[in-house]
Amino acid sequence: MSETLEYLTPEQVAQFRTNGYLKIPGFLEPAEVETLLTRTQELLEEFNVESHPLTKFTTGDDNHIGDDYFLTSGDKIRYFLEEDAVDKDGKLNRDKTRAVNKIGHGLHEHDPSFRKITLENEKMRAVVRDLKFHHDPVALQSMVICKQPQIGGEVPEHNDSTFLYTNPPTALGFWMPLERCTPQNGALSFLPGSHLSAPITKRFVRLPGGGTGFEQLVAPEEAPKSPEGTYVLEECMPGDLVLIHGSVLHKSERNTSAHTRYAYTFHMVESAPYAEYDGKNWLQPTPGTPFPHILDVPNAAVVPVGA
Ligand code: FE2
Repeated sequence: MSETLEYLTPEQVAQFRTNGYLKIPGFLEPAEVETLLTRTQELLEEFNVESHPLTKFTTGDDNHIGDDYFLTSGDKIRYFLEEDAVDKDGKLNRDKTRAVNKIGHGLHEHDPSFRKITLENEKMRAVVRDLKFHHDPVALQSMVICKQPQIGGEVPEHNDSTFLYTNPPTALGFWMPLERCTPQNGALSFLPGSHLSAPITKRFVRLPGGGTGFEQLVAPEEAPKSPEGTYVLEECMPGDLVLIHGSVLHKSERNTSAHTRYAYTFHMVESAPYAEYDGKNWLQPTPGTPFPHILDVPNAAVVPVGA
């Protein structure tokens, strides 16, 4: 396998397969990081608070408005707020640029700077070819995660294929810190090898009556026990790339520091006929914006990783 690798080393490929994630130091050039950071600041400045549903509406209909704003965000650039940045009257309790939890989910399509890193990036394609994780991957969503100082919310243990489900599960995350990630500002931590022992037991879906929820794929009494092991905290530098297998368990703590923890992340899944992406998923492609393919020539062969 090693003679065909373009960017990764055989050790890195093996590490990804064993641990379910891989940190690649210095994947982005400093100038690329700077461009994405600047663009993030600009997007935060462009955030129009007046027209945002969670701050504009304060009635019991909030949830539906919020649901629509979320459910139709796949091909747009939208703003999702930190829970602790909105007071009970639906007003921001701090500057808008310090109130946004994340910006998504169509940055890779609609913002030229993020598009360049995601869809027009030969180095990214080389990683995809080296991993042989997908035959013909498509990018389906992208986000800047802000993890704001003091209030940046905790993300509890989860795997990504629950939220970006295909049959069989094929999600793969690309996570790129734009700033240093430390134990104090909510660096990611992973349970190595959990992608091999923690099957996808539920999926995040659009509910028939509106809104979103979980559909169980395995009856609770048949679900395997949570895998044992010790979480590994991965401190990161700006420009690192962390590849995240869709089944590996990971989490991040609240940002209790005085510093932001901006990161850009996007996900790929396998496309048909290799995997099925159905209409139950919260995120749906639209006729005008189908999920873009990453490779010009699909990988001839993939090497399955774990469950
Ligand atoms: Fe995740």
